[in-house]
Amino acid sequence: MNTACVILAAGLGKRMNSNLPKVLHKVCGIPMLQSVIDTARKLKNDKIVVVTGKHDELIKKTLASPDIFFVLQEEPKGTGHALLCARQSLKGFQGVLIVLNGDSPLVSAETIRKFLRMHLKNKSAVSVLSFQAENPDDYGRIVRDASGQVLSIVEQKDADAMQKKIHEVNSGVYAINHDLLPLLDNIKINRKKGEYYLTDIVAAALKKGSKTSAYCIGAEDEFMGVNTREELYRASMFMKKKLIEKWAGKGVTFLDMDSVFIHAGVTIGNDTTVYPNVYLEGHTKIGSGTTIFPNVRILDSEIGSNVVIKDSTVIEGSTIKNRASVGPFARIRPGSEIGTDARIGNFVELKKAVIGTGAKASHLSYLGDARIGRDVNVGAGTITCNYDGNRKSVTIIEEGVFIGSDSQLVAPVTIGRGAFIGAGSTITKNVPPFALALSRVEQRTIKGWAKKRQDMVREETRNKGKGQKGKHGK
Ligand code: UD1
Ligand code: CA
Repeated sequence: MNTACVILAAGLGKRMNSNLPKVLHKVCGIPMLQSVIDTARKLKNDKIVVVTGKHDELIKKTLASPDIFFVLQEEPKGTGHALLCARQSLKGFQGVLIVLNGDSPLVSAETIRKFLRMHLKNKSAVSVLSFQAENPDDYGRIVRDASGQVLSIVEQKDADAMQKKIHEVNSGVYAINHDLLPLLDNIKINRKKGEYYLTDIVAAALKKGSKTSAYCIGAEDEFMGVNTREELYRASMFMKKKLIEKWAGKGVTFLDMDSVFIHAGVTIGNDTTVYPNVYLEGHTKIGSGTTIFPNVRILDSEIGSNVVIKDSTVIEGSTIKNRASVGPFARIRPGSEIGTDARIGNFVELKKAVIGTGAKASHLSYLGDARIGRDVNVGAGTITCNYDGNRKSVTIIEEGVFIGSDSQLVAPVTIGRGAFIGAGSTITKNVPPFALALSRVEQRTIKGWAKKRQDMVREETRNKGKGQKGKHGK
Protein backbone atom coordinates (compact mmCIF):
# COMPACT_ATOMS: atom_id res chain seq x y z
CA MET A 1 0.00 0.00 0.00
CA ASN A 2 1.34 3.43 -0.94
CA THR A 3 1.17 6.07 1.74
CA ALA A 4 1.92 9.76 1.68
CA CYS A 5 1.93 12.03 4.67
CA VAL A 6 0.78 15.62 4.93
CA ILE A 7 1.74 17.55 8.04
CA LEU A 8 -0.33 20.67 8.74
CA ALA A 9 1.86 23.39 10.16
CA ALA A 10 0.58 26.65 8.71
CA GLY A 11 -1.56 27.83 11.61
CA LEU A 12 -0.69 31.10 13.30
CA GLY A 13 -0.50 29.61 16.76
CA LYS A 14 -1.94 32.81 18.20
CA ARG A 15 -2.56 31.29 21.60
CA MET A 16 1.21 30.92 22.13
CA ASN A 17 1.68 34.73 22.08
CA SER A 18 5.05 34.20 20.48
CA ASN A 19 7.21 35.65 17.71
CA LEU A 20 8.37 32.12 16.97
CA PRO A 21 5.98 29.96 14.92
CA LYS A 22 4.21 27.55 17.22
CA VAL A 23 5.47 24.40 15.50
CA LEU A 24 9.09 25.48 16.07
CA HIS A 25 8.64 25.63 19.82
CA LYS A 26 10.64 22.82 21.36
CA VAL A 27 9.57 19.87 23.43
CA CYS A 28 12.63 18.35 25.14
CA GLY A 29 14.96 20.19 22.81
CA ILE A 30 13.27 19.24 19.54
CA PRO A 31 11.00 21.58 17.55
CA MET A 32 7.50 20.07 17.59
CA LEU A 33 7.35 19.94 13.81
CA GLN A 34 10.70 18.14 13.73
CA SER A 35 9.26 15.41 15.98
CA VAL A 36 6.24 15.02 13.71
CA ILE A 37 8.48 14.86 10.61
CA ASP A 38 10.64 12.21 12.33
CA THR A 39 7.52 10.19 13.08
CA ALA A 40 6.39 10.49 9.44
CA ARG A 41 9.83 9.27 8.32
CA LYS A 42 9.49 6.17 10.49
CA LEU A 43 6.29 5.31 8.60
CA LYS A 44 8.29 5.03 5.38
CA ASN A 45 5.89 7.16 3.38
CA ASP A 46 6.35 7.60 -0.33
CA LYS A 47 6.20 11.32 0.18
CA ILE A 48 6.13 13.76 3.08
CA VAL A 49 4.53 17.15 2.51
CA VAL A 50 4.63 19.92 5.11
CA VAL A 51 2.14 22.78 4.79
CA THR A 52 3.58 26.01 6.13
CA GLY A 53 2.21 29.53 6.26
CA LYS A 54 3.37 32.96 7.31
CA HIS A 55 6.63 31.69 8.79
CA ASP A 56 7.57 29.35 5.96
CA GLU A 57 11.06 30.83 5.44
CA LEU A 58 12.05 30.27 9.04
CA ILE A 59 10.53 26.80 9.14
CA LYS A 60 12.35 25.78 5.97
CA LYS A 61 15.59 27.24 7.26
CA THR A 62 15.26 25.21 10.45
CA LEU A 63 13.97 21.92 9.10
CA ALA A 64 14.65 21.70 5.35
CA SER A 65 15.73 18.28 4.15
CA PRO A 66 15.74 16.74 0.66
CA ASP A 67 13.00 14.23 1.56
CA ILE A 68 10.48 16.89 2.65
CA PHE A 69 8.26 18.88 0.28
CA PHE A 70 7.10 22.21 1.58
CA VAL A 71 3.94 23.82 0.29
CA LEU A 72 2.68 27.25 1.18
CA GLN A 73 -0.76 28.06 2.53
CA GLU A 74 -0.68 31.79 2.04
CA GLU A 75 -3.49 32.52 4.43
CA PRO A 76 -4.45 30.32 7.38
CA LYS A 77 -7.93 29.50 6.17
CA GLY A 78 -8.25 26.36 8.24
CA THR A 79 -7.09 22.76 8.33
CA GLY A 80 -9.28 21.75 5.35
CA HIS A 81 -7.85 24.54 3.23
CA ALA A 82 -4.32 23.58 4.36
CA LEU A 83 -4.76 20.05 3.03
CA LEU A 84 -6.20 21.48 -0.17
CA CYS A 85 -2.95 23.44 -0.61
CA ALA A 86 -0.99 20.16 -0.47
CA ARG A 87 -3.09 18.53 -3.20
CA GLN A 88 -1.07 19.86 -6.10
CA SER A 89 2.09 18.26 -4.72
CA LEU A 90 0.25 14.92 -4.45
CA LYS A 91 -0.88 14.87 -8.06
CA GLY A 92 -0.98 11.31 -9.35
CA PHE A 93 -0.60 9.83 -5.86
CA GLN A 94 -2.67 6.71 -5.32
CA GLY A 95 -2.97 5.18 -1.90
CA VAL A 96 -3.69 6.32 1.63
CA LEU A 97 -2.96 9.83 2.74
CA ILE A 98 -1.96 10.19 6.38
CA VAL A 99 -2.62 13.63 7.81
CA LEU A 100 -0.81 14.76 10.95
CA ASN A 101 -0.95 17.98 12.96
CA GLY A 102 2.34 19.81 13.34
CA ASP A 103 1.39 20.73 16.90
CA SER A 104 0.97 17.17 18.21
CA PRO A 105 4.57 16.11 18.77
CA LEU A 106 4.04 13.07 20.96
CA VAL A 107 2.11 10.79 18.59
CA SER A 108 4.23 7.69 18.00
CA ALA A 109 4.83 5.94 14.69
CA GLU A 110 3.71 2.72 16.36
CA THR A 111 0.25 4.12 17.12
CA ILE A 112 -0.13 5.48 13.59
CA ARG A 113 0.88 2.11 12.14
CA LYS A 114 -1.74 0.38 14.27
CA PHE A 115 -4.33 2.95 13.16
CA LEU A 116 -3.39 2.45 9.51
CA ARG A 117 -3.73 -1.31 9.83
CA MET A 118 -7.29 -0.83 11.18
CA HIS A 119 -8.12 1.60 8.38
CA LEU A 120 -6.97 -0.93 5.76
CA LYS A 121 -8.47 -3.99 7.41
CA ASN A 122 -11.90 -2.39 7.73
CA LYS A 123 -11.70 -0.96 4.21
CA SER A 124 -12.54 2.51 5.48
CA ALA A 125 -12.36 5.44 3.10
CA VAL A 126 -11.77 8.08 5.79
CA SER A 127 -10.58 7.25 9.28
CA VAL A 128 -9.89 9.41 12.27
CA LEU A 129 -7.70 8.46 15.19
CA SER A 130 -9.64 9.38 18.29
CA PHE A 131 -9.04 9.23 22.03
CA GLN A 132 -10.86 9.80 25.30
CA ALA A 133 -10.01 13.23 26.67
CA GLU A 134 -10.51 14.05 30.33
CA ASN A 135 -11.18 17.66 29.32
CA PRO A 136 -12.37 17.57 25.70
CA ASP A 137 -12.85 21.33 25.24
CA ASP A 138 -9.75 21.89 23.09
CA TYR A 139 -10.68 19.17 20.64
CA GLY A 140 -13.25 18.25 18.03
CA ARG A 141 -15.87 15.82 19.40
CA ILE A 142 -16.49 12.52 17.60
CA VAL A 143 -20.25 12.31 17.05
CA ARG A 144 -21.59 8.77 16.56
CA ASP A 145 -25.08 7.41 16.05
CA ALA A 146 -26.67 4.74 18.26
CA SER A 147 -24.96 1.98 16.30
CA GLY A 148 -21.56 3.58 16.82
CA GLN A 149 -21.22 4.83 13.25
CA VAL A 150 -19.23 8.08 13.12
CA LEU A 151 -21.37 10.88 11.77
CA SER A 152 -19.22 13.97 12.10
CA ILE A 153 -16.60 15.84 14.07
CA VAL A 154 -17.84 18.92 15.89
CA GLU A 155 -15.58 21.60 17.35
CA GLN A 156 -16.25 23.03 20.81
CA LYS A 157 -17.53 26.32 19.38
CA ASP A 158 -20.12 24.54 17.25
CA ALA A 159 -21.13 21.80 19.68
CA ASP A 160 -24.57 21.68 21.29
CA ALA A 161 -25.06 20.77 24.94
CA MET A 162 -25.27 17.02 24.21
CA GLN A 163 -22.21 17.06 21.98
CA LYS A 164 -20.23 18.97 24.60
CA LYS A 165 -20.66 15.98 26.90
CA ILE A 166 -18.79 13.71 24.49
CA HIS A 167 -15.28 12.82 25.63
CA GLU A 168 -14.19 10.95 22.52
CA VAL A 169 -12.24 13.50 20.49
CA ASN A 170 -10.26 13.94 17.28
CA SER A 171 -6.48 13.58 17.60
CA GLY A 172 -5.85 15.33 14.27
CA VAL A 173 -4.50 12.08 12.75
CA TYR A 174 -6.45 10.98 9.67
CA ALA A 175 -6.18 8.29 7.01
CA ILE A 176 -7.86 9.35 3.78
CA ASN A 177 -8.01 7.30 0.60
CA HIS A 178 -6.74 9.37 -2.32
CA ASP A 179 -10.01 9.17 -4.25
CA LEU A 180 -11.80 11.09 -1.47
CA LEU A 181 -9.56 14.12 -1.68
CA PRO A 182 -11.85 15.92 -4.18
CA LEU A 183 -14.35 16.19 -1.30
CA LEU A 184 -12.15 18.95 0.07
CA ASP A 185 -13.32 21.21 -2.76
CA ASN A 186 -16.85 21.14 -1.42
CA ILE A 187 -16.18 21.80 2.24
CA LYS A 188 -18.07 24.89 3.33
CA ILE A 189 -16.55 27.66 5.37
CA ASN A 190 -17.26 27.52 9.09
CA ARG A 191 -18.98 30.82 9.73
CA LYS A 192 -18.06 31.11 13.39
CA LYS A 193 -14.34 30.76 12.78
CA GLY A 194 -14.11 31.79 9.12
CA GLU A 195 -12.12 28.63 8.34
CA TYR A 196 -12.47 25.52 6.23
CA TYR A 197 -12.40 22.57 8.60
CA LEU A 198 -10.71 19.33 7.56
CA THR A 199 -12.90 17.62 10.13
CA ASP A 200 -15.88 18.22 7.82
CA ILE A 201 -14.48 15.62 5.42
CA VAL A 202 -15.98 12.92 7.67
CA ALA A 203 -19.58 14.04 7.22
CA ALA A 204 -18.93 14.74 3.54
CA ALA A 205 -17.57 11.23 2.96
CA LEU A 206 -20.50 9.67 4.78
CA LYS A 207 -22.94 11.67 2.69
CA LYS A 208 -21.28 10.30 -0.42
CA GLY A 209 -21.76 6.76 0.94
CA SER A 210 -18.12 6.12 1.79
CA LYS A 211 -17.10 4.21 4.85
CA THR A 212 -15.96 6.47 7.69
CA SER A 213 -14.49 5.27 10.97
CA ALA A 214 -12.94 6.59 14.15
CA TYR A 215 -10.50 4.34 15.99
CA CYS A 216 -10.15 5.14 19.65
CA ILE A 217 -6.66 3.88 20.46
CA GLY A 218 -3.80 5.00 22.65
CA ALA A 219 -3.61 7.20 25.72
CA GLU A 220 -4.57 10.84 25.97
CA ASP A 221 -1.07 12.14 26.72
CA GLU A 222 0.19 10.90 23.37
CA PHE A 223 -2.26 12.96 21.35
CA MET A 224 -1.92 16.21 23.20
CA GLY A 225 -2.17 19.16 20.83
CA VAL A 226 -0.05 22.10 21.89
CA ASN A 227 -1.85 25.41 21.51
CA THR A 228 -0.69 27.31 24.60
CA ARG A 229 2.45 27.61 26.75
CA GLU A 230 0.72 25.62 29.43
CA GLU A 231 0.14 22.77 26.97
CA LEU A 232 3.75 23.09 25.79
CA TYR A 233 4.83 22.63 29.38
CA ARG A 234 2.57 19.61 29.83
CA ALA A 235 3.87 18.00 26.63
CA SER A 236 7.46 18.67 27.71
CA MET A 237 6.90 17.16 31.14
CA PHE A 238 5.31 14.09 29.61
CA MET A 239 8.15 13.55 27.15
CA LYS A 240 10.82 14.25 29.76
CA LYS A 241 9.31 11.68 32.10
CA LYS A 242 9.32 9.10 29.33
CA LEU A 243 12.96 9.86 28.51
CA ILE A 244 14.08 9.59 32.13
CA GLU A 245 12.20 6.33 32.56
CA LYS A 246 13.87 5.02 29.41
CA TRP A 247 17.40 5.82 30.68
CA ALA A 248 16.60 4.54 34.17
CA GLY A 249 15.52 1.30 32.48
CA LYS A 250 18.91 1.14 30.80
CA GLY A 251 20.77 1.39 34.10
CA VAL A 252 21.12 5.09 34.90
CA THR A 253 20.58 6.16 38.53
CA PHE A 254 18.68 9.43 39.03
CA LEU A 255 18.64 10.76 42.59
CA ASP A 256 15.67 13.00 41.80
CA MET A 257 13.88 12.27 38.54
CA ASP A 258 11.64 15.33 38.85
CA SER A 259 14.40 17.93 38.82
CA VAL A 260 16.45 16.47 35.96
CA PHE A 261 15.85 17.64 32.35
CA ILE A 262 16.95 15.53 29.43
CA HIS A 263 16.60 16.34 25.76
CA ALA A 264 15.50 13.69 23.32
CA GLY A 265 18.90 13.67 21.58
CA VAL A 266 20.85 12.69 24.73
CA THR A 267 22.31 9.23 25.40
CA ILE A 268 23.57 7.98 28.78
CA GLY A 269 25.59 4.85 29.60
CA ASN A 270 24.68 2.45 32.39
CA ASP A 271 25.86 2.93 35.97
CA THR A 272 26.02 6.65 35.47
CA THR A 273 24.59 8.62 38.39
CA VAL A 274 22.75 11.88 37.88
CA TYR A 275 22.21 14.14 40.90
CA PRO A 276 19.30 16.61 41.20
CA ASN A 277 18.87 19.72 39.07
CA VAL A 278 20.95 18.53 36.14
CA TYR A 279 20.24 19.64 32.53
CA LEU A 280 21.45 17.40 29.72
CA GLU A 281 20.77 19.16 26.45
CA GLY A 282 21.13 18.85 22.69
CA HIS A 283 23.17 15.97 21.36
CA THR A 284 24.99 15.17 24.57
CA LYS A 285 26.48 11.72 24.95
CA ILE A 286 27.50 10.39 28.34
CA GLY A 287 29.44 7.20 28.97
CA SER A 288 29.12 4.58 31.71
CA GLY A 289 29.95 4.90 35.39
CA THR A 290 30.08 8.68 35.21
CA THR A 291 28.82 10.86 38.05
CA ILE A 292 27.12 14.18 37.45
CA PHE A 293 26.71 16.22 40.63
CA PRO A 294 23.96 18.81 41.23
CA ASN A 295 23.32 21.97 39.20
CA VAL A 296 25.26 20.92 36.13
CA ARG A 297 24.27 21.88 32.57
CA ILE A 298 25.79 20.00 29.64
CA LEU A 299 24.97 20.95 26.06
CA ASP A 300 26.05 19.18 22.84
CA SER A 301 29.02 17.52 24.50
CA GLU A 302 30.58 14.11 24.72
CA ILE A 303 31.43 12.90 28.22
CA GLY A 304 33.38 9.65 28.55
CA SER A 305 33.10 6.88 31.11
CA ASN A 306 33.94 7.14 34.81
CA VAL A 307 34.14 10.89 34.53
CA VAL A 308 33.20 13.06 37.51
CA ILE A 309 31.45 16.34 36.81
CA LYS A 310 31.26 18.21 40.09
CA ASP A 311 28.61 20.68 41.22
CA SER A 312 27.58 23.82 39.33
CA THR A 313 29.58 23.17 36.19
CA VAL A 314 28.60 24.26 32.67
CA ILE A 315 29.89 22.34 29.66
CA GLU A 316 29.05 23.34 26.07
CA GLY A 317 30.19 21.84 22.78
CA SER A 318 33.14 19.99 24.32
CA THR A 319 34.60 16.54 24.85
CA ILE A 320 35.58 15.13 28.24
CA LYS A 321 37.51 11.89 28.07
CA ASN A 322 37.42 8.90 30.40
CA ARG A 323 38.18 9.31 34.11
CA ALA A 324 38.60 13.07 33.86
CA SER A 325 37.28 15.26 36.66
CA VAL A 326 35.73 18.67 36.09
CA GLY A 327 34.48 21.26 38.59
CA PRO A 328 33.01 22.24 40.95
CA PHE A 329 32.15 25.64 39.41
CA ALA A 330 33.98 25.05 36.13
CA ARG A 331 32.95 26.57 32.81
CA ILE A 332 33.92 24.60 29.73
CA ARG A 333 33.15 26.63 26.62
CA PRO A 334 32.78 25.26 23.08
CA GLY A 335 35.66 23.60 21.30
CA SER A 336 37.38 22.28 24.41
CA GLU A 337 38.69 18.81 25.02
CA ILE A 338 39.70 17.48 28.40
CA GLY A 339 41.97 14.45 28.17
CA THR A 340 41.82 11.11 29.94
CA ASP A 341 42.56 11.39 33.68
CA ALA A 342 42.88 15.17 33.41
CA ARG A 343 41.61 17.46 36.18
CA ILE A 344 39.93 20.80 35.79
CA GLY A 345 39.08 22.28 39.16
CA ASN A 346 37.03 25.06 40.67
CA PHE A 347 36.56 28.39 38.92
CA VAL A 348 38.47 27.31 35.83
CA GLU A 349 37.22 28.55 32.46
CA LEU A 350 38.25 26.84 29.23
CA LYS A 351 37.54 28.03 25.70
CA LYS A 352 38.80 26.09 22.68
CA ALA A 353 41.35 24.54 25.01
CA VAL A 354 42.75 21.05 24.56
CA ILE A 355 43.93 19.62 27.84
CA GLY A 356 46.27 16.62 27.56
CA THR A 357 46.05 13.28 29.32
CA GLY A 358 46.63 13.62 33.04
CA ALA A 359 47.09 17.40 32.90
CA LYS A 360 45.79 19.53 35.78
CA ALA A 361 44.42 23.04 36.16
CA SER A 362 42.96 22.86 39.60
CA HIS A 363 42.06 26.42 40.57
CA LEU A 364 40.95 29.80 39.23
CA SER A 365 42.30 29.86 35.67
CA TYR A 366 41.34 31.09 32.22
CA LEU A 367 42.71 28.88 29.47
CA GLY A 368 41.51 30.00 26.05
CA ASP A 369 42.79 29.01 22.58
CA ALA A 370 45.31 26.80 24.31
CA ARG A 371 46.89 23.44 23.61
CA ILE A 372 48.11 21.91 26.80
CA GLY A 373 50.17 18.72 26.68
CA ARG A 374 50.26 15.58 28.77
CA ASP A 375 50.83 15.86 32.52
CA VAL A 376 51.14 19.64 32.51
CA ASN A 377 50.44 21.32 35.84
CA VAL A 378 48.79 24.70 35.53
CA GLY A 379 49.04 26.63 38.79
CA ALA A 380 46.24 28.59 40.43
CA GLY A 381 45.32 31.86 38.78
CA THR A 382 47.07 31.18 35.48
CA ILE A 383 45.72 33.12 32.51
CA THR A 384 46.32 32.68 28.82
CA CYS A 385 46.14 36.19 27.36
CA ASN A 386 44.68 35.10 24.04
CA TYR A 387 43.21 38.43 22.91
CA ASP A 388 45.13 41.60 22.16
CA GLY A 389 42.01 43.64 21.55
CA ASN A 390 42.18 42.78 17.89
CA ARG A 391 42.98 39.14 17.30
CA LYS A 392 42.97 35.84 19.15
CA SER A 393 46.24 33.89 19.41
CA VAL A 394 47.17 30.44 20.58
CA THR A 395 49.14 29.34 23.62
CA ILE A 396 50.97 26.03 23.38
CA ILE A 397 52.14 24.35 26.54
CA GLU A 398 54.04 21.17 25.79
CA GLU A 399 54.13 17.94 27.74
CA GLY A 400 55.22 17.96 31.37
CA VAL A 401 55.44 21.75 31.80
CA PHE A 402 54.92 23.29 35.25
CA ILE A 403 53.26 26.70 35.27
CA GLY A 404 53.65 28.47 38.61
CA SER A 405 50.61 30.17 40.13
CA ASP A 406 49.40 33.56 39.00
CA SER A 407 51.22 33.48 35.67
CA GLN A 408 50.07 35.18 32.49
CA LEU A 409 51.02 33.64 29.17
CA VAL A 410 50.72 36.28 26.46
CA ALA A 411 49.80 34.52 23.22
CA PRO A 412 51.07 33.62 20.72
CA VAL A 413 53.56 31.82 22.89
CA THR A 414 54.96 28.31 23.26
CA ILE A 415 56.28 26.79 26.46
CA GLY A 416 58.62 23.95 25.50
CA ARG A 417 58.46 20.47 26.90
CA GLY A 418 59.32 20.03 30.57
CA ALA A 419 59.89 23.77 31.11
CA PHE A 420 59.17 25.51 34.41
CA ILE A 421 57.51 28.90 34.78
CA GLY A 422 58.08 30.63 38.09
CA ALA A 423 55.00 31.83 39.97
CA GLY A 424 53.79 35.34 39.19
CA SER A 425 55.44 35.55 35.77
CA THR A 426 54.21 37.33 32.68
CA ILE A 427 55.56 35.29 29.78
CA THR A 428 55.72 37.07 26.45
CA LYS A 429 58.43 35.06 24.68
CA ASN A 430 58.69 31.39 23.80
CA VAL A 431 60.37 29.25 26.46
CA PRO A 432 62.64 26.43 25.26
CA PRO A 433 62.22 22.88 26.58
CA PHE A 434 63.38 22.21 30.14
CA ALA A 435 64.17 25.91 30.79
CA LEU A 436 63.11 27.98 33.79
CA ALA A 437 61.41 31.25 32.87
CA LEU A 438 60.73 33.95 35.41
CA SER A 439 59.61 37.50 34.80
CA ARG A 440 59.09 39.08 38.17
CA VAL A 441 61.23 41.71 39.90
CA GLU A 442 63.59 40.39 42.46
CA GLN A 443 62.32 40.60 46.03
CA ARG A 444 63.58 43.44 48.26
CA THR A 445 63.41 43.05 52.05
CA ILE A 446 63.85 46.15 54.25
CA LYS A 447 64.32 45.17 57.86
CA GLY A 448 62.26 47.08 60.47
CA TRP A 449 60.32 49.07 57.83
CA ALA A 450 56.90 48.02 59.03
CA LYS A 451 57.66 48.82 62.65
CA LYS A 452 58.87 52.31 61.68
CA ARG A 453 55.66 52.92 59.71
CA GLN A 454 53.57 51.80 62.63
CA ASP A 455 55.29 54.26 64.96
CA MET A 456 54.80 57.04 62.43
CA VAL A 457 51.06 56.39 62.12
CA ARG A 458 50.64 56.33 65.90
CA GLU A 459 52.42 59.66 66.26
CA GLU A 460 50.22 61.23 63.57
CA THR A 461 47.04 60.04 65.27
CA ARG A 462 48.14 61.47 68.62
CA ASN A 463 48.86 64.91 67.16
CA LYS A 464 45.50 64.97 65.39
CA GLY A 465 43.75 64.26 68.68
CA LYS A 466 45.47 67.23 70.38
CA GLY A 467 44.37 69.58 67.57
CA GLN A 468 40.72 68.56 67.97
CA LYS A 469 40.76 69.28 71.73
CA GLY A 470 42.16 72.75 71.09
CA LYS A 471 39.26 73.55 68.77
CA HIS A 472 36.63 72.65 71.39
CA GLY A 473 38.39 74.65 74.07
CA LYS A 474 37.80 77.99 72.25
C1 UD1 B 1 -7.73 20.66 15.41
C2 UD1 B 1 -9.00 19.96 14.94
C3 UD1 B 1 -9.67 19.31 16.15
C4 UD1 B 1 -8.69 18.33 16.80
C5 UD1 B 1 -7.39 19.03 17.16
C6 UD1 B 1 -6.36 18.01 17.61
C7 UD1 B 1 -9.92 21.21 13.06
C8 UD1 B 1 -10.96 22.17 12.63
N1 UD1 B 1 -9.90 20.92 14.36
O1 UD1 B 1 -8.11 21.70 16.29
O2 UD1 B 1 -10.82 18.61 15.75
O3 UD1 B 1 -9.30 17.77 17.94
O4 UD1 B 1 -6.84 19.72 16.02
O5 UD1 B 1 -5.25 18.62 18.15
O6 UD1 B 1 -9.19 20.70 12.23
N2 UD1 B 1 -3.18 24.59 10.48
C9 UD1 B 1 -2.83 24.89 9.18
N3 UD1 B 1 -3.54 25.85 8.52
C10 UD1 B 1 -4.59 26.49 9.06
C11 UD1 B 1 -4.97 26.16 10.38
C12 UD1 B 1 -4.26 25.19 11.06
O7 UD1 B 1 -1.88 24.34 8.65
O8 UD1 B 1 -5.18 27.34 8.38
C13 UD1 B 1 -2.39 23.60 11.22
C14 UD1 B 1 -1.82 24.15 12.51
O9 UD1 B 1 -0.51 24.67 12.28
C15 UD1 B 1 -1.80 22.94 13.43
C16 UD1 B 1 -2.92 22.07 12.90
O10 UD1 B 1 -3.22 22.54 11.61
O11 UD1 B 1 -0.59 22.25 13.37
C17 UD1 B 1 -4.16 22.15 13.79
O12 UD1 B 1 -4.61 23.48 13.83
P1 UD1 B 1 -5.14 24.15 15.17
O13 UD1 B 1 -5.55 25.53 14.85
O14 UD1 B 1 -4.18 23.93 16.26
O15 UD1 B 1 -6.44 23.28 15.40
P2 UD1 B 1 -7.16 22.91 16.76
O16 UD1 B 1 -8.04 24.02 17.15
O17 UD1 B 1 -6.20 22.42 17.74
CA1 CA C 1 -4.04 22.35 17.87
